[in-house]
Amino acid sequence: MNFVHPILLAGALLVPLATLLPAQAADGASSALVERGRYLVNVAGCNDCHTPGYAAAEGQVSEKLWLTGDALGWSGPWGTTYATNLRLYMTRHTEASWLQTARHFKPRPPMPWFNVHAMSDRDLRALYRYVRHLGPAGEPAPAYVPPGGTPQGPAVRFPG
Ligand code: HEC
Repeated sequence: MNFVHPILLAGALLVPLATLLPAQAADGASSALVERGRYLVNVAGCNDCHTPGYAAAEGQVSEKLWLTGDALGWSGPWGTTYATNLRLYMTRHTEASWLQTARHFKPRPPMPWFNVHAMSDRDLRALYRYVRHLGPAGEPAPAYVPPGGTPQGPAVRFPG
């Protein structure tokens, strides 16, 4: 007999629905975090140094290239630094290890680490989610050159 009890049928339909709903709610929350991360990257100026040619192009750089690092050197008493490729950097972090790092790290100038320290946990998390959402791309930035070394390629020279 091909008889399916209506209550069993209702149960069979409800179970997948119930498992689906919380997942959809979580997706909504995480896409809001990604959007918040995108906003933060924009207004906190991370692109200014971490995206190639961003300031010179008045911000008109494809989002595909955002945060892929830059080969422009920053020279001063600390040596020469290069803005890290954050798209690769974040793949080496879990969300938890990024939160931990972002609270205490102190990279060399001109990285404004104090601005990152000042962010709330939620904003740090949003930043991480956004960069992971963009996914890994580009090449690592050139390696740090210690004081007295000669940078290859263009560098902004700070006095001192
Ligand atoms: C004025 C330029 C500048 C701006 C603006 C800037 N950075 Fe950086 N950032 C750098 C440079 C240069 C380095 C490499 C420092 C070094 O080699 O020690 C760096 C390194 C980093 C690193 C790697 C740190 C490490 O320990 O290896 C992270 C993460 C980072 N920046 C995040 C951000 C975020 C997030 C923002 C936006 C809030 C931002 N940066 C804005 C220049 C900048």
